[in-house]
Amino acid sequence: MMPSDVPGYSPGLEDVIAGLSGISKVDPEGDELIYYGYKVSQLCEQSSFEEVCYLLLNGTLPLKNEFTAFQKKLIEERSVPSKLIQYICELPKEAHYMDVLRSGISNLSHYDPQCEDNSKEAELAKSIRLIAKVPTLLAARIRAQKGAKPLAPHAKLGHAANFLYMVNGTEPDPDFAKALDVSLICYAEHGFNASTFTARVIASTLSEMHSCITGAIGALKGPLHGGANEQAMYMLQEIGDPAKAEGWIKEKLAQKAKIMGFGHRVYKKKDARAPILKNWGWKLAKKLGQTKWHEIAEIVERVMMSEKKLFPNVDFPAAPLYYLLGLPIEVDTPLFVVGRMPGWCAHIIEQRVGNRIMRPESHYTGPQARDYIPLIKRS
Ligand SMILES: CC(C)(COP(=O)(O)OP(=O)(O)OC[C@H]1O[C@@H](n2cnc3c(N)ncnc32)[C@H](O)[C@@H]1OP(=O)(O)O)[C@@H](O)C(=O)NCCC(=O)NCCS
Repeated sequence: MMPSDVPGYSPGLEDVIAGLSGISKVDPEGDELIYYGYKVSQLCEQSSFEEVCYLLLNGTLPLKNEFTAFQKKLIEERSVPSKLIQYICELPKEAHYMDVLRSGISNLSHYDPQCEDNSKEAELAKSIRLIAKVPTLLAARIRAQKGAKPLAPHAKLGHAANFLYMVNGTEPDPDFAKALDVSLICYAEHGFNASTFTARVIASTLSEMHSCITGAIGALKGPLHGGANEQAMYMLQEIGDPAKAEGWIKEKLAQKAKIMGFGHRVYKKKDARAPILKNWGWKLAKKLGQTKWHEIAEIVERVMMSEKKLFPNVDFPAAPLYYLLGLPIEVDTPLFVVGRMPGWCAHIIEQRVGNRIMRPESHYTGPQARDYIPLIKRS
């Protein structure tokens, strides 16, 4: 039976409307992504990740005093119980960073006093705690992998700068902090993507927020979703030299390989976030005098467009940008988690309003009803 033989069935739920949402608009033409009406390009230029978190959780931009109070709460909530930091650091060295983060967030639920409270007030408080604590967990694990002790958060630094500080132990160059901040804004929200949808499905059962986020992380890990940024960097490394890029990509395409960081289910022509991150990546590359990765990336992008009419999505330029920040490649997808946290939380809170459990149907393709034959009589 072909999928087209089943009325109402769309493989991968393509074009299926699975809910109403006022949080963001992902325009198929890719001209602009908006969060509660605000263009992401403008937010990247003029705002900060913290302000975008406020916007996504509250639906409006904050007034000055509201923002000061929100920032203060985010800073206060950065620390993580020492037992949990120890647990994170002692997990097997070989564990994937996404698995470590998934375990860390699942464990955070045990320390959250409002874990089982699904009221809007509690969920807003839990969202702030989750947004604030995830970078602390991740930085502790990065340091542990290098044999270094975890560092306490720096109360005077913003979200992105504090993360880089907790990893390296020094205050970052403002351009590096801004580049990370911009990437987190780009990753913050993106409609009913696979991980957000997972979070909403779990929320629809009235399960609590930490379970929803834990499930979302599992969905994001896959290379067809958030795992693409990590894979894109491995690809750039494998190519290794701008002179080899064109031949390498053409050969992979001839083998029908998927090139990570290209294409998109919703966008048909472009992903507006990609040029923003590409420009920031180039800025860091020139500042560091390390332009090789971006030179390779430019060629890959050109060949993908001419051969397959495929454009880079947000994950492609994120890969060399994070590499130039000096972060381990395996941390690329966890950084997507850091960025997407407010989007997931906003969707969980939105799902609670007028909730109905998500329970689609499948079309049965198995055998018709038949009699059970006891084991001794089966031949
Ligand atoms: C994003 C993605 C999962 C969308 O998937 P989708 O809507 O189901 O599209 P499909 O995988 O069915 O692709 C449609 C066609 O384009 C091709 N295609 C799509 N993305 C491609 C890519 N990155 N490289 C090579 N070919 C690609 C497919 O091979 C397929 O070709 P075919 O019709 O000849 O078989 C897909 O583009 C992809 O796998 N991209 C790479 C992973 C990635 O970057 N993910 C991050 C998304 S933000």
